[in-house]
Amino acid sequence: MTLRDFIPHLPGCASARFILLGLLSCLTSISQAQSVNPLEGNSRAITGGGSLFRAQCATCHGADAKGIATIDAPDLTMIWSERDLSVSEVFSTIRDGVPGSIMPAHKLTDSELWMLVSYLQDVAVAGVTDLPAGDVVAGAEAFRTNCSACHRAHGQGGSFGPNLNAITTRRSLESIMASVRQPSVIIGRGFKPVRVVTSGGEEVQGVLKSEDAFSLQMLDERQRLRGFQKTELQSLERLQQSVMPPFSRTALSDSDLYHILNYLQSGAAQ
Ligand code: HEC
Ligand code: HEC
Repeated sequence: MTLRDFIPHLPGCASARFILLGLLSCLTSISQAQSVNPLEGNSRAITGGGSLFRAQCATCHGADAKGIATIDAPDLTMIWSERDLSVSEVFSTIRDGVPGSIMPAHKLTDSELWMLVSYLQDVAVAGVTDLPAGDVVAGAEAFRTNCSACHRAHGQGGSFGPNLNAITTRRSLESIMASVRQPSVIIGRGFKPVRVVTSGGEEVQGVLKSEDAFSLQMLDERQRLRGFQKTELQSLERLQQSVMPPFSRTALSDSDLYHILNYLQSGAAQ
């Protein structure tokens, strides 16, 4: 399939009758096409993109594009809201891959690439649309007691876990509840728990911020950034349990959690 199967009148490119003018308008229409997905919302493109995705991407990103717990490839349903990527950035990432990572380049036609972008736009998570009412003041208090040691919101709190300001715009209610009740099921990138023992015998536990073949950077439990050369480590252990404790319904009721989410959603997010 080509782009023209979807868009019969792609100006200029199709018939470059006047070589120079044709080429110019062709270039313009391509650069315009880069900032807007020409196939956005096109149901055939979304279906085709979905099939391409299952064939070429699902092994790493998961059949539902939400990632696979054991593979460090991102949840692609959140690239628009959480990462704020543009369609052209997503287009070129798929085409060119990410150097230095296992994300490969793909030899696909432009229309196939746009079909994949359409599919990813279609599965995008829109955020919480069905938040039950709650008390913002009670939420602020519950947040301060239970969460702010590790999470920042409205300009206050720790940075051991992700900033929760815009959480209700980038995750669904169901998935936020799952993160709070069972944090270890999906541990966010940049927050993978690790424990190292240095050659001097010091044990440091925390979350892995970055890593290459020779070194790693982590945030330790006191929220200090620490860097280590791998050769100076006795051991490096990747842990399965998120550093976020699970909150059962007895520890934090659903209605307390709704209060917290109403607080997070309220006022000017900073
Ligand atoms: C071999 C595993 C693998 C395959 C196959 C793969 N990816 Fe990826 N992809 C990754 C990894 C890992 C990253 C994260 C790279 C990084 O930033 O370190 C990534 C990143 C991305 C990103 C950027 C996300 C962001 O937050 O910046 C997009 C978009 C993406 N992949 C789409 C796709 C699509 C579409 C396909 C199929 C055509 C695909 N990937 C196939 C592993 C894979
Ligand atoms: C001891 C530190 C700690 C406490 C306390 C804590 N969290 Fe977390 N939280 C984390 C870390 C670290 C992560 C990232 C790793 C992960 O996803 O499990 C996280 C992840 C999350 C996420 C997923 C965020 C995202 O960007 O997808 C949510 C939602 C969340 N926490 C909510 C809460 C709420 C609500 C509370 C209080 C009721 C709380 N957390 C208490 C450390 C903590």
